[in-house]
Amino acid sequence: MANGRILDGTAIAAAIKEDVAREVTKLAAQGILPGLAAVLVGNVPASQIYVRSKVKTCEALGIASELITPADTVTTGQMLALVAKLNAREDIDGILLQLPLPPQVNAKALLEAVNPDKDVDGFHPVNVGRLQTGQPGLSPCTPSGVIELLKRTGIPMSGQNAVVIGRSDIVGKPMAILLLQQNATVTVCHSKTRDLAEFTRNADILVVAMGHAGFVTSEMVKPGSTVIDVGMNRVTSREDFDRFFAGDSRREKMFREKGSTLVGDVDPRAFRVAGAYTPVPGGVGPLTIAMLMANTVRAAKLRRGLKV
Ligand code: GUN
Repeated sequence: MANGRILDGTAIAAAIKEDVAREVTKLAAQGILPGLAAVLVGNVPASQIYVRSKVKTCEALGIASELITPADTVTTGQMLALVAKLNAREDIDGILLQLPLPPQVNAKALLEAVNPDKDVDGFHPVNVGRLQTGQPGLSPCTPSGVIELLKRTGIPMSGQNAVVIGRSDIVGKPMAILLLQQNATVTVCHSKTRDLAEFTRNADILVVAMGHAGFVTSEMVKPGSTVIDVGMNRVTSREDFDRFFAGDSRREKMFREKGSTLVGDVDPRAFRVAGAYTPVPGGVGPLTIAMLMANTVRAAKLRRGLKV
């Protein structure tokens, strides 16, 4: 149906994980076992699925992992005590606080309490600063996964016009800095941007991370460009399904069986205009966990003064 080249995130994630498993074997020969502590608070179904998948991937790659599940009534004080304990543990290289945290918990204070050298999500202000100034550190998993994908699929970034839609601390902002480091000419657009299509139509690389189902349409995409869709939106109504997927019999079957399907922030019909694109699902999603594994091994090495 689409004409652009599919950038297969699942395949790239598998290649990254193979590299990580090789690194883990090399570290084992030096008596080092990287360890990740994943903290999952409460009963948010999506978070439970993500964290379980993170822990399972650790097991598959030979990384030690520990799942800690405080009740959703936990206080900021109790969480700070937990983080302090994990910071002090010699066997823990990475600490992951799955977001969102419940409203009574001060998420900002907690993210700042994590030892920056164990901050495998790259959310600590110290790592934000290291990223901004080009010092070795830990970068957020989703945007660094996008850079890995572009590198490994041979899509040039240097001198290209890159447009990022979305300015979140987790994706949009670090994505812009990482693209800049690759010598792209970067524009960040957001909900207050006037004439958004004027920017996107000039984008050789368009990264969309705004959380709005099918927002980017065919007319907004430069023909032949690379479109990276970070969005993941669940489609449950027949009306929305038909708007995005009318005539797609494979999707139709999925939708009928499961009662829902996923659509990104890009209207799937816009992928026909692109030269290459990441599908949803199977594009950016699998890269996030692969990069978390890479960051855990990186943290283990950095903390011991080993070359990364
Ligand atoms: N919640 C949604 N995305 C993320 C992520 O990348 N890391 C963490 N810790 N929580 C999330």
